[in-house]
Amino acid sequence: MRNYSEFLAEVLISEEELQTRIKEMGQQISEDYKDSKNLLLICILRGGVMFLTDLMRQIHIPHAIEFMAVSSYGLGARETTGQIRISHDLNTDIHDRDVILVEDIIDSGHTLSSVLDMLSTRKPKSLEVCTLLDKAERREVSVPVKYVGFTIPNKFVFGYGLDLDDYYRHLPFIGVVDENKYQAESDE
Ligand code: IMP
Ligand code: MG
Repeated sequence: MRNYSEFLAEVLISEEELQTRIKEMGQQISEDYKDSKNLLLICILRGGVMFLTDLMRQIHIPHAIEFMAVSSYGLGARETTGQIRISHDLNTDIHDRDVILVEDIIDSGHTLSSVLDMLSTRKPKSLEVCTLLDKAERREVSVPVKYVGFTIPNKFVFGYGLDLDDYYRHLPFIGVVDENKYQAESDE
């Protein structure tokens, strides 16, 4: 496995910028849900994991966490068509609960839109979305997003939970891939 520095085009969001923004988001959520009796954060595996664990440490009101995994039947690993399959469902009943869906990135919006449709049939008391990154210009279906960390340009990014062919999720910053260099190396 190569060192990411060989195909890192630029650091888009530094560790410090991420942590500062996540602290603000946690404070906002703590304020907005201070009267909630049963707040539940649902993380979509696997990209949202790092964001969830940092975000929850900045939420100073009681809350529970849950995980779900979805896979998309798509055009390729980096694009989705909206056809999703739940590969790991929740172990918790969300009926009558205040739910926040925690996502790493919204791109076309298809994944999120399908997950929201599916979760709303379970009649939560409220259902909102909190995403770290938003590639707003790529949106194909509109999805209501209450909390956005950063709106980013249409570039393929990795790190801080987001993978490049399953690796590099551990990096504490968000980097932009130099697609030419990454491709050239992967094809060797
Ligand atoms: P959507 O259904 O097109 O909104 O796809 C969202 C999913 O695509 C995210 O949860 C990511 O897993 C993946 N994705 C989209 N853009 C990127 C990126 O730039 N880097 C890594 N994963 C991405
Ligand atoms: Mg994902």
